[in-house]
Amino acid sequence: MSHRIAVDPLNQDEEQAMDQPTLMEDRRLSGDTVQIGAYTPVPGFGVLPVNAFLIKADQPVLIDTGLAALREGFLEALAAEIDPADLRWIWLTHTDPDHLGNLAAVLERSPNARLVTTFLGMGKLGLHGLPVDRAYLLNPGQSLDVGDRLLTAVAPPSFDAPETTAVFDGRRRALFSADCFGALMPAPAETAADLPAAGLTEGLQTWAAVDAPWLQWVAEPAFRQRLDDVRALQAEAVYGSHLPPARGMADTLLQTLDASRNAPAFIGPDQADLERMMAQAGVA
Ligand SMILES: [Fe+2]
Ligand SMILES: [Fe+2]
Repeated sequence: MSHRIAVDPLNQDEEQAMDQPTLMEDRRLSGDTVQIGAYTPVPGFGVLPVNAFLIKADQPVLIDTGLAALREGFLEALAAEIDPADLRWIWLTHTDPDHLGNLAAVLERSPNARLVTTFLGMGKLGLHGLPVDRAYLLNPGQSLDVGDRLLTAVAPPSFDAPETTAVFDGRRRALFSADCFGALMPAPAETAADLPAAGLTEGLQTWAAVDAPWLQWVAEPAFRQRLDDVRALQAEAVYGSHLPPARGMADTLLQTLDASRNAPAFIGPDQADLERMMAQAGVA
């Protein structure tokens, strides 16, 4: 069954279309940082990366917990990298389902791990019926000492949930940027640099319009200050939840996000569009 629809800005090749969430092989980002990545199909737009990360610091840290639909594979991938009992921190960037998908399962297997979130994040987790008794609250600007480095909570310039904290690893100069700098893509890619420049720009801007529609209403001076704050981190690598690993691309990503404020607004298909799409796909 094809999910291809009329809205197809990235010209997804129907033959290569991914029709369900798919886990990728673990990817070593540096000596001690691993990406546990997946892609999920977005009908009409291609695919969206959904990444979690493991930092094998003195006190190991898992950043986000992947998609519930891929639970078995996610837990296997994690266990292949580390004994879950050794995990000391689970840093939840925010409480969206693509980030907390396997949180309860990881908490259960990792009794020595504390859950890093914010006060609002803790409240939302409680509303989800998830355990909050192991929460450790960290606000933007505050740091977590994980033995061999500090991990600093950063308020990213774009986000879709107010509790969001990005993570800056000062030792590796790596920014785990949460939903900021995500990109819709025609097909999976090893690195962000593997995408053609125009395709990357379009994918970043479409994602920004979908994920942070409020960007178009933000005044330039205030937003530029937020971008400058991130630029000042001098991140050598940006590891987005929804972007392939991006090395040496922080300025490009910041400039593209700035320009996204003037990109066309995203308006999703309405019911008539949906019925037309389903008829085209032969499922009506
Ligand atoms: Fe999100
Ligand atoms: Fe997300």
